[in-house]
Amino acid sequence: MDIVYLDGHYIPAGEARISPFDRGFLFGDSVYEVIPYFRGTGFRLREHIARLEHSLRAVRIRSGRDWYAILDRLVELNGGGNLSVYLQVTRGDSGSRSHAYDASLEPTVFACCAPVRDFASVAAKDVKGLAAIVTADLRWHRCDIKSTCLLPNILVLQQARDHQADEALLLRDGLVTEGTSCNIFLVRQGVVYTPKRSSEILGGITRELVLELADENGIQYQEADIDYDALMAGDEVWITSSTRGVLPVTRIDGQPVGDGEKGPLWARMFELLTRYQRRLMTGE
Ligand code: PDD
Repeated sequence: MDIVYLDGHYIPAGEARISPFDRGFLFGDSVYEVIPYFRGTGFRLREHIARLEHSLRAVRIRSGRDWYAILDRLVELNGGGNLSVYLQVTRGDSGSRSHAYDASLEPTVFACCAPVRDFASVAAKDVKGLAAIVTADLRWHRCDIKSTCLLPNILVLQQARDHQADEALLLRDGLVTEGTSCNIFLVRQGVVYTPKRSSEILGGITRELVLELADENGIQYQEADIDYDALMAGDEVWITSSTRGVLPVTRIDGQPVGDGEKGPLWARMFELLTRYQRRLMTGE
């Protein structure tokens, strides 16, 4: 995990330096992706790169890099296997602090790896049900952009931790949006519900895959509004992300979700996702 990528160079992490006038540092003027690699293969890599391009376009940061080549080489230099790759692109180093930016700035590109556990290596019976709190969504209205301005996410996750909970589920205008770094699903009477894609949530790669797997396997689902009462009346609640897969939430605001146990539809989706991942890992 020691080699990082910074502006065209693969170097030991301890040697990486960026300018304090980099706009990513000064303003959070940057976007990012987190892409797990399992046995050296990127998990829905094309979709992650497409989302990165969406974020870059939306904030008008120049792109034009061969992201695939950059990441493949980084993964190789870090020994392949199971890794989570973090990729950040800032608007660049402006040499001084000014809100206004020069469109010709050269973006700063940084990527590093961290260990990740592949979800196929864990049996459903060993997955722990999570506790969550529900709290106000304090973020801006362009949550479809994967921006590094994560202060609201950080603060509410800490609020969850202060309540001995694992995640914070966010509520905006009476509706559940998502978690601090995950999308949300609700099961009610055998139907899976998840909030519609909009600029209030991140278009999660795993969210999309879960809907695809539901579709292929005859699991009924609907993209719909979920309010607090509906959330609390759910039989099951799940969260999804590329690094965590699909995880059951069994307590919300101190109350059990359904019977307080991991639900049968969660177990089914966990199995489908695990099978998908195993196929990816063995290249079938
Ligand atoms: N977060 N919603 C938010 C706000 C997120 O930050 C993430 C991912 C997701 C799930 O998206 P995906 O399925 O594409 O991973 C939803 C990453 C993992 C992170 O910030 O570390």
